[in-house]
Amino acid sequence: MTVIENSKAVKNLPEPIIQGQPMTALAPMQDVTGLEFMKVISEYGSPDYFFTEYFRVHVSSNLEKHILNSITQNQTGRPIFAQLIGESLPDLERTVNELIKYPIAGIDLNMGCPAPKVYKKNVGGGLLRDVKKIDSILELIRKSTAKLFTVKMRIGFDTTDNFADILNLINKHKIDLLSLHGRTVKEMYRSEVHYKKIKQAVETINCPVLANGNITSASKAKWVVENTGSAGVMVGRSAIRNPWIFRQIREKYSGKKMYQPKLIDVRNYIDKLYKATWQERFTEQGHINRLKKFLNFIGQSVDSEGKFLHQMRRAQSKKEFFDICDDHLIANKRSELYFANEPFEKIIARPNHEKPNDDLSYSIVS
Ligand SMILES: Cc1cc2nc3c(=O)[nH]c(=O)nc-3n(C[C@H](O)[C@H](O)[C@H](O)COP(=O)(O)O)c2cc1C
Repeated sequence: MTVIENSKAVKNLPEPIIQGQPMTALAPMQDVTGLEFMKVISEYGSPDYFFTEYFRVHVSSNLEKHILNSITQNQTGRPIFAQLIGESLPDLERTVNELIKYPIAGIDLNMGCPAPKVYKKNVGGGLLRDVKKIDSILELIRKSTAKLFTVKMRIGFDTTDNFADILNLINKHKIDLLSLHGRTVKEMYRSEVHYKKIKQAVETINCPVLANGNITSASKAKWVVENTGSAGVMVGRSAIRNPWIFRQIREKYSGKKMYQPKLIDVRNYIDKLYKATWQERFTEQGHINRLKKFLNFIGQSVDSEGKFLHQMRRAQSKKEFFDICDDHLIANKRSELYFANEPFEKIIARPNHEKPNDDLSYSIVS
């Protein structure tokens, strides 16, 4: 068994599933990591920690009911951190005071969202331009709660010039855990990930760091932990593609044979997602379009030519959609083929044909 030697790893945080292994977390993803998706993930193998989608904090904000449900009805058996996005000190204080009445592991501050609509309001990734503001927000939240206080951020806005100063603030305000996406805000989602910057954070700050950005498989998780010294990994898009990833990471570190899903398992996962994401207000086509957003990621590991993705995106009805799934995942003994561990090269989770919702600060089709 591989044991992490980073002594910063366990202090204060809720017990991980397996002591001594790198910690894992499901990355918060707006419009994805709600109650239902977290439950689906927990059925395939939970991470150590979950994070909610972000609660918006501003002068007239209320705790959004659907996000709150992921806390009050959490069925994963694992701790969940409540993420906030905002910059107004009185409203952040009010929101923290409301949230700490609920069964959360702690409060998480979003300093990474790259959507222009968001960063232009100086929240999310926009905060990374203003070190003084970060200082006052971290001070306020730290004072407002005795619960754990964690931060999720990127390595800078358009440059990494502020990075060292921000890391000093993470120490100054005794943040309990830093999830660090190794890209700047301007780099969005597709550039290379600057793991050296994650290493720099690990070497500078006193709390554990979860490395984030393109952790695509258990092997990649191990590589990143070894090369950054991070206390663990936070996985986003690859957990949508491969919900077995947290279980596989644990198996890899335990020296056990890693579970290898077959295409039939993927077909069953799609059924599970279909049921989990169903809402009465959806039309059949609306529901299928929503499902396609998840399948955009799943399809990256189905076939190396992207045929499944190409056809799936064009399905016009539920029947057509599931026929395409059956063709690629079950027919002609394909059910017995293994689902690729990594996304196939050059197969990109690109947009559906329907117009992306402009209001979403994160686009699932990034
Ligand atoms: C659809 C989508 C929604 C996201 N929503 C959030 C969010 O609400 N809060 C947040 O901190 N990050 C959010 N992110 C960023 C992810 O948490 C993560 O940092 C990023 O996807 C990089 O990790 P990955 O390469 O494992 O996906 C979102 C990303 C995606 C793709």
